[in-house]
Amino acid sequence: MKILLLGKNGQLGWELQRSLAVAGEVVALGHEDGGDFNQPDALLARVQAVAPQVIVNAAAYTAVDKAESEAEVARQVNALTPALLAIEAKRTGALLVHYSTDYVFDGSGSQPRDEDAAIAPLNVYGSTKAEGEDAIRASGCQHLILRTSWVYAARGGNFAKTMLRLAQEREQLKVIADQIGAPTGADLLADLTVPMLRAARVNPALVGTYHAVAGGETSWHDYARYVIEFARSRGVNIRVASDLILAIPTTDYPTPARRPLNSRLSTTKLQQRFGLHLPHWQQGVERMLMETL
Ligand SMILES: NC(=O)c1ccc[n+]([C@@H]2O[C@H](COP(=O)([O-])OP(=O)(O)OC[C@H]3O[C@@H](n4cnc5c(N)ncnc54)[C@H](OP(=O)(O)O)[C@@H]3O)[C@@H](O)[C@H]2O)c1
Repeated sequence: MKILLLGKNGQLGWELQRSLAVAGEVVALGHEDGGDFNQPDALLARVQAVAPQVIVNAAAYTAVDKAESEAEVARQVNALTPALLAIEAKRTGALLVHYSTDYVFDGSGSQPRDEDAAIAPLNVYGSTKAEGEDAIRASGCQHLILRTSWVYAARGGNFAKTMLRLAQEREQLKVIADQIGAPTGADLLADLTVPMLRAARVNPALVGTYHAVAGGETSWHDYARYVIEFARSRGVNIRVASDLILAIPTTDYPTPARRPLNSRLSTTKLQQRFGLHLPHWQQGVERMLMETL
């Protein structure tokens, strides 16, 4: 099986380079080597030259706040070019694996959303991701769309690492406590992708949209506390006292892009249809910390 991986250098793309290696022959592209989503004609020519059976798209415009002022670029990368990939996949019969986000929802309520819940993005990033999803479904290509949330990886920067740095520098931290979701490792997503794409290739009834997040739920505030106390227990020189990691509401931390409060995603469909287990978020975060501390 020939697999074309796009966005090879992102958090997820990097992990997919590892996990996809056992699934088939992988051609991995980034911006710089013919995989630029802002050059769709050149990208399509490259896809046609590779002629993959599976296209895995880990490329995305993920700068949520910057997208508010760069809507056209975000739309090209997150919606228009994925739409062209979907048409190409439909033409050739390839399976398109694509990733999306909890930010396609408005985050109202307090229950986990399932895949059929109404889409109502609050920001430009979420709108462009929703448009990309819709285009892929409308193309009629064989596809897996995995919606995930709060992605972190050992490689590169992430929220946990930022909190650890600040906890070593500052005496007090203020962290948002009213956004609830599940931190999800890029390694977990990459590992899920392999059995899912293999199963979907054999059984086309499995194609569709799935929620793919780690188990459990937390707030950014509890996530920060968990990471900081874990590091403290491992002897890291943490400056902030436990009771000075303060919980604040989203309204106290204004950002250009509005963010959903309820990012809970139900993974029942994925677990039942593929027979896969989604470990608790703390398991993956601990592993990432052990690798980076
Ligand atoms: N990060 C999160 O918290 C989060 C949450 C929910 C869903 N997701 C979704 O999960 C997927 C993976 O995200 P991630 O965390 O791995 O994101 P990431 O680390 O930001 O990686 C995105 C990759 O896309 C590449 N890219 C951006 N613009 C491009 C373009 N014009 N042409 C080609 N490549 C381009 C980036 O390259 P450069 O770095 O060179 O620009 C980067 O390698 C995405 O679909 C994202 O929407 C992420």
